[in-house]
Amino acid sequence: RLKIATIGGGSSYTPELFEGFIKRKDELDIKEIWLVDIEEGKEKLEIVGAMAKRMIKAANLDWEVHLTLDRRAALKDADFVTTQFRVGLLDARIKDETIPLKYGMMGQETNGAGGMFKALRTIPIIKSIIEDMKELCPNAWLVNFTNPSGMVTEAAIKHFGWTRTIGLCNVPIVHQNIANAFEGLEPFSDELYFKFAGLNHFHWHRVWNKQGQEITDKIIDQQYGKDIAPEDMPEGVKNIPQMPFDYDLVKHEGLLPCMYHRYYYLTQTMLDLELEEYKENNTRAQLVKATEDRLFELYKDPNLDYKPKELSERGGTFYSDAACEVIASIVNDKRKVMVVSTQNKGAIADLPYDSIAEVSSYITSHGAEPIVWGSFKSAQRGMLQIMKAMEECTIEAAITGNYETLKQAFTINPLIESGEKADMVMNELLVAHKKHLPQF
Ligand code: NAD
Ligand code: G6P
Ligand code: MN
Ligand code: MN
Repeated sequence: RLKIATIGGGSSYTPELFEGFIKRKDELDIKEIWLVDIEEGKEKLEIVGAMAKRMIKAANLDWEVHLTLDRRAALKDADFVTTQFRVGLLDARIKDETIPLKYGMMGQETNGAGGMFKALRTIPIIKSIIEDMKELCPNAWLVNFTNPSGMVTEAAIKHFGWTRTIGLCNVPIVHQNIANAFEGLEPFSDELYFKFAGLNHFHWHRVWNKQGQEITDKIIDQQYGKDIAPEDMPEGVKNIPQMPFDYDLVKHEGLLPCMYHRYYYLTQTMLDLELEEYKENNTRAQLVKATEDRLFELYKDPNLDYKPKELSERGGTFYSDAACEVIASIVNDKRKVMVVSTQNKGAIADLPYDSIAEVSSYITSHGAEPIVWGSFKSAQRGMLQIMKAMEECTIEAAITGNYETLKQAFTINPLIESGEKADMVMNELLVAHKKHLPQF
């Protein structure tokens, strides 16, 4: 029977994760789930952990739920280790999002300077988790949800040698369900065939119907057509404003962009929106903090034993449909096609073999087998390679603590203005996050 350890167990997403496990109770023979957190998250862990126990009881399952601050006890003999932690909690995210904005640059959890600093804080922790895993659970799978998910997964596999790592994001599932809805299909229908390729929060996809026709173009028209008002656009994720893409640009690309491409294709518009929110103290991190407080008030209710609908205010909807399904697919060798961050292995001709890409893959008992995408056209290839180089420099800086390497990463990132202003943002973030950046 399975032992699962979840690092960052005090997350408000834990009920989502438990719902996903419970839904798959016939496929997953679970013995124990260990929720691990740290001293700063102890109170959250206790509240949401009690709630998780109620969910298991309500589902009439005999699964043990352990709450602990002792990571090693949780990792010992684990089969799956899932990660959903946030180094420095939401206060660190507020700094990531507001400091770049002060200098007129995008402040975002996974993009631009903020996302890079989240990588700098997270990668040393992933390294230490993997060191423990090598000793305590050498055969376990690491299912990473912690952002920036692509860079964290690349560090885990390429630098720390944990090849049994799969990186996740909920966004591809959201895109698939939008296309399903346009075709009059239920969410998670397997009628359509999807092919995704790129990087985490920087991918494109194509869609085919059962009759073998490609319907990518049709979905572009339905989703981003010129006369569609933002409020009529299908709902994406809660954290990204529904700004209409430039239809002609997307149409000419002939590929469906990821919702996060708005930051790159509509930079000034997205920045203006963020600056408005910043003025009102309503950056996403600040809003999320208020949502989180409300969620934990709900979780305290001893009668609540299911995931409350208020959790859908967070951006991570369908998180468990990614995490728990990957686990079920590995355990049962389902060979299900899912979009994950994994070693490219030639699937995208424009990226190195050992780079981590976010790509449609079969999920087998031996891990992810990416499906061939081929080459991108010049426009996408150029952006993709710049973004991968930026990721590589960021990861290297996270490991070495080299200031100049970080400066290179900043210079490459398209959301960061290079030069003196970039230095100011970087220096201020380095000071603000000092406590969580032992490598610098
Ligand atoms: P959160 O702020 O609630 O943090 C989760 C928990 O992690 C907290 O209880 C915290 O105490 C704990 N934690 C911090 N450092 C830790 C450490 N060293 N060891 C163990 N636990 C530690 O975060 P959240 O809003 O629930 O998000 C969790 C993570 O999931 C974040 O990294 C976020 O970016 C990520 N996320 C990813 C996706 C995706 O698409 N991949 C979607 C949503 C959220
Ligand atoms: C998204 C993403 C995550 C992102 C999160 C933010 O949909 O896929 O990677 O970081 O949701 O959600 P939040 O509610 O924390 O702003
Ligand atoms: Mn994501
Ligand atoms: Mn730049």
